Amino acid sequence: MSAARGVPPGLVESLPRGISVAAREIGPLEELVEEARQLGFSLPAALESAIDKRQREYLAGRISAAYALRQMLGVAAPEGEIIGDHDDVPRWPEGVVGSISHGAGFGFAAVAAADRYGGLGVDVERVVSPEQAGRLGARVLNEREMSLRQGSAGGLTEAEMFTLVFSAKESAYKALFPRYRQVLGFSDVELERRDGEEADRHGRVRLRARLDPEERGVAAPLVGWYAFPEKDADANSGNAPRVWTLVVAECDGQELAP
Ligand SMILES: CC(C)(COP(=O)(O)OP(=O)(O)OC[C@H]1O[C@@H](n2cnc3c(N)ncnc32)[C@H](O)[C@@H]1OP(=O)(O)O)[C@@H](O)C(=O)NCCC(=O)NCCS
Repeated sequence: MSAARGVPPGLVESLPRGISVAAREIGPLEELVEEARQLGFSLPAALESAIDKRQREYLAGRISAAYALRQMLGVAAPEGEIIGDHDDVPRWPEGVVGSISHGAGFGFAAVAAADRYGGLGVDVERVVSPEQAGRLGARVLNEREMSLRQGSAGGLTEAEMFTLVFSAKESAYKALFPRYRQVLGFSDVELERRDGEEADRHGRVRLRARLDPEERGVAAPLVGWYAFPEKDADANSGNAPRVWTLVVAECDGQELAP
C-alpha cells in the first residue's frame, strides 16, 4: 500500500523530488494504536485522557509522519516518536524539516531536507460551504487574492478559492513558525499568484509573508502546491470535497522551485 494513499496524485506528481508525503485515514482508534505500535510509538501520556477524536487525529498525523520519514530516509521505521515542543511544533530528526496536519478524515505529513528548504507546511481542509465562504471571506483573503479565482486553466468556485487560500496560508504559517516563532495573521501572508492545471484541480501558488522587519528585512517568499481530488476519487469524503496544500519556505537565499 502506498504511504501517499489519499493524497491526490495531482499533488504528489507535481512536487519537486526530495519532498516526501504520506497520509493515513483517521480510522478507528484500535487500528491506529496498533499501527503506531508497529511503527514503534504510542499515545503520549499527555493524551491518554484526551477525547477519542484528538487521540485518533494525533495518531493519524504521527503515522503519516513516520511513513514520510521512512520514504525520505529509507529506514524501516524511524526511531522514537516525533514529539511536539512547547509551542506544539513537531521536532524532526536532525537535518529534516516537516509538517503534520489532520482533519477532513485524514492525517497528512510531509518532510524534506533542511539544507534545501527553510521550512515546510502542510494542511488538508474540507471545502467550506458557499455561505461560510461569504461570511468569512474578508477575514481570510483580500480582493486581489479572490481575483486569482479565475485562472488560465478554468476557474474555482468562491468556496474553493476561499478554502484554498485559507489552507495555503495555514501551510505557510506552519512552514515559517518553527524558524521565526512569530504569530502571523491572515493579512500577513498574501497569495500572489496561482497557476492551475487540469481545469484547476491542482496547481502551484506563490505566497509572501510579512515577517517582523527586525527579524528579517524582506518578506519571506514561499512556493506551494495544491490539489482538489476528483470527487469520485475522494472516496472518504461523503459529499464534501477537500483541498490539500503543501508550502515550502526558502533556505537562506536558495532559489525555490522554478
Ligand atoms: C498551527 C495551526 C496553523 C494549526 O492548524 P489547525 O488547522 O488547527 O490544525 P492542523 O490539523 O492542520 O495541524 C495541527 C498540527 O500542526 C502542528 N503545529 C501546531 N502548532 C504549530 C506551529 N505553531 N507551527 C507549525 N506546526 C504546528 C502540530 O503537529 C499539530 O498536530 P499535533 O498537535 O497532533 O502535533 C493553528 O492552530 C494556529 O496556531 N493558527 C494561528 C495562526 C494562523 O492560523 N494564522 C493565519 C494563517 S497565516
